[in-house]
Amino acid sequence: MSYNFLNKVAVVTGGLSGIGRSTTIKLLRQGAKVIIGDLAHEQEIDSILNTINKSAPDCDVHHNLRFLRTNIGVYQDNINLVDFALDEYKTIDYVVANAVTIMKGFTATAAEETTEDFNRVINVNLGGIFALNKLCINYWKEFNYRGSIVNIGSISGPKVIEPGSLGLSCGKSGIHTLTRSMAKDYGALGIRINEVCPGLIKTQSLESFLQSGQYGYDQVVAQCPVKRIGDSDEVANAVCFLLSDEASYITGASLNVDGGYSCR
Ligand SMILES: NC(=O)c1ccc[n+]([C@@H]2O[C@H](COP(=O)([O-])OP(=O)(O)OC[C@H]3O[C@@H](n4cnc5c(N)ncnc54)[C@H](O)[C@@H]3O)[C@@H](O)[C@H]2O)c1
Repeated sequence: MSYNFLNKVAVVTGGLSGIGRSTTIKLLRQGAKVIIGDLAHEQEIDSILNTINKSAPDCDVHHNLRFLRTNIGVYQDNINLVDFALDEYKTIDYVVANAVTIMKGFTATAAEETTEDFNRVINVNLGGIFALNKLCINYWKEFNYRGSIVNIGSISGPKVIEPGSLGLSCGKSGIHTLTRSMAKDYGALGIRINEVCPGLIKTQSLESFLQSGQYGYDQVVAQCPVKRIGDSDEVANAVCFLLSDEASYITGASLNVDGGYSCR
């Protein structure tokens, strides 16, 4: 799938790993400039640069990729990320609000979760996405600009109820509502806000989930209609489509990328 992202500027949170990393690479390959905001360390950037250099040697990644250490759960960090993007590339066209923190432990039932961890996860995940959406929308409103946001939700919460990680699921349900609500508020300004809901995707997060011991790999795959786990590139394809002008009449939508897992 190929889109014309030439000179478009995208802010991607959590872009150093998994789905964010795949999305960053796809955007760069198609001509975009990308600012990654991530809590992890900048050294990961080298691995992204190497991947791009090998597969798309014409892509000027050294000029088109920037990194700012960002904790999405800190409001000031979101302000700094937006300011940094504007300083570096003078505008923002796209936002991929992807980063999340995870629960400290996997619990079988809701009552086993601590209130502190529940509040922390909601605050970082839902609060962080709200902050970045709001800041970018305010920028676009001020300059009468038409931007596009893709929030990364999950099937777990708005689409299916799984045991454990209640804070994570409640945060994702909040992201679902936030996306639709903001799409309704700002559609008339030409600002589009959509959501991608991954199912089981092979990334570090999924590894941690499987290591919790509640489910084995085979058990999880057996529940998925297409009988396999997804790849982060398959989610990135959906993200790039929704960001692009090809999706010009799509806003407030929620696109599952789950191999049919939620059809249960
Ligand atoms: N992998 C799956 O199976 C799956 C399923 C459903 C939803 N998702 C969603 O997809 C998105 C990406 O998940 P992934 O599996 O690629 O994760 P991942 O663990 O591979 O990457 C997450 C990235 O976010 C960064 N990060 C963590 N906390 C942060 C914070 N507070 N501020 C800024 N950056 C932070 C990490 O450093 C990392 O680079 C998440 O929103 C996740 O909930 C993933």
